[in-house]
This record gives sequence, structure tokens and C-alpha cells, in this order.
Amino acid sequence: MGDTDSMEIRKLSGNVAAEIEGVRIGALDPGAPDSEALRQALYRHRVLILRDQDLDLAGLKRATAVFGPLLRVPYIAPAPEDPDIVRVLKEQDERDIAVFGGDWHSDFSFLDEPPGGSLLWAVEVPPYGGDTVWADQIAAWASLPANLKTALDGKRVIHLGAPYGVDHAPPPDLAVSRSVSMTRGDPDADRPRLHPSPRTYPPTGEKALFVNPIYTVGIEGLPESEAAEILKAAYAHATRPEFCYRHRWQAGDLAIWDNRATLHYAVNDYDGHRRLLYRTTWAGEAPV
Ligand SMILES: [Fe+2]
Repeated sequence: MGDTDSMEIRKLSGNVAAEIEGVRIGALDPGAPDSEALRQALYRHRVLILRDQDLDLAGLKRATAVFGPLLRVPYIAPAPEDPDIVRVLKEQDERDIAVFGGDWHSDFSFLDEPPGGSLLWAVEVPPYGGDTVWADQIAAWASLPANLKTALDGKRVIHLGAPYGVDHAPPPDLAVSRSVSMTRGDPDADRPRLHPSPRTYPPTGEKALFVNPIYTVGIEGLPESEAAEILKAAYAHATRPEFCYRHRWQAGDLAIWDNRATLHYAVNDYDGHRRLLYRTTWAGEAPV
């Protein structure tokens, strides 16, 4: 699981993320040795950063196929240029709004088969701010206090796509981005899905804490107040700085993350500046 001849892998923090040098990912065939090395690096570090990637949208899609089959995510309107790509955009004049991903979460954990992971490629970045933070949930599970481990292990956690549903939809006057268009009001998003926490990280068999501050609303078999207390403590542990890597974006950066073993957070501190990234997603499996 090491470097290939041309590729260098350098850890970016103690528990999560590595920078990859010496690869032009847009030109890789999924069966090439470098592709296998990238997959192994992802499974080991959960987040990969590649700098100076001279991609286009077709290249971003080819890069996605290195990790899994391309997935069109629900509830978010795709980029006008390509139905397989989401444009993560905030315009210069969009102020005081909630941004896409502006709270700790993993993506779409309320689906029967949450996405395997995503790629995010930076095209235009603000002069400061707009960082993305990832938190490793394998390290979080391994060091979870025993009382919380006992409270969660063997139980399933209840996930709900509330922001996209009817019953718990956000207030209609909530100020959100006009540049990322979300579909709301789908009754199917109100159907709770139960997933185990921890879940097994399929590539390595390790256990990962699998709670989601946006989408988890309870624990199977526990009264609401007791579950809320356990989840609150689990969220606080899951996002401790020791498990995090915070990325300061430059144009041309490509981030690749495994959605099955990380949480992420889009820091919204750059009002007055335009920020544009393109995003793809690959399919995952039902958590076990
Ligand atoms: Fe996200």
C-alpha cells in the first residue's frame, strides 16, 4: 500500500488526510497501478488532497470512476453544464445565508445506501476563508468513551432527511444560497432509515462512528431525551480537533473523501467573495 514510482503520499494530520503528489488524476485509467495506489491511500487516510489538478468536468468524472460508480445525488440540482456534477457556488453578493454543507455531517446518511464518497475540485476560491474540515470517524470510534460505546454498540441510529422532507422542513423564509438549488418537500425524505453505529468500513473492516449532526434524530429503542443526550455527546466527540484536517483551498486543488468514515463541514466565513467548486459523488452501500 505504498507509493508507486511516481506517486508520493504525505500525511496531513495525525488521524486523517494525506496529500498526494505526482499524479494527474484526470488522465488515469481506473485499472492503472496509480489508481489502485490512490484507492489504497484513500482507504488508509480517508481524505486525499491533490494540488494543481488541471481538470475539466469530463476529467473530474473520470477521476471519480477511480473510486466507484458515479452517482447522481438526490435533492440538489445538478450543474447546468452536466447532470453528473454539482456546482458548489456562493456568489460575491450572497451574504448572511446558510451555505451548502455548513454544519457537521456526512452526505445523505438518511438514504438506504448513503454515497461512498465525493470529489471536490476548486476553481475559484476566496482570498481567505471558505475552508473545508473533515473529521475521521474511525479514530473517533476507537477513542469513544466506554459509556458512549456501550450506549451505541449493537443499536441502530435513526436518520431522517428532514431538510428535504415535508414534516420537518425548514421555515420557508430561511435564507439559503440561490446558487445551490435544493429540492425540498419530498415526503420520502421523512421516512426514517435505521443504520448501525458503529458501521464497518468496508475496505478495511475497521469500525467507524456513524452519527450525523444534521440527519440523525434518535436511537432505536431509546426514549427521545435519552437518545438526544447520547447523540449530543457523540457529536461532540466525533468532531474533536484531534480527528480533523482543515483544508485551506487554492484553485486547482482536488479533495477526495470517503463519506463512510468521515464527517465534513464547509466553513462559511467569506461573505463578499465568490467561491466555486465542482463536485461529484460515487455510490456506496447499505451500512453494516
Ligand atoms: Fe456535504
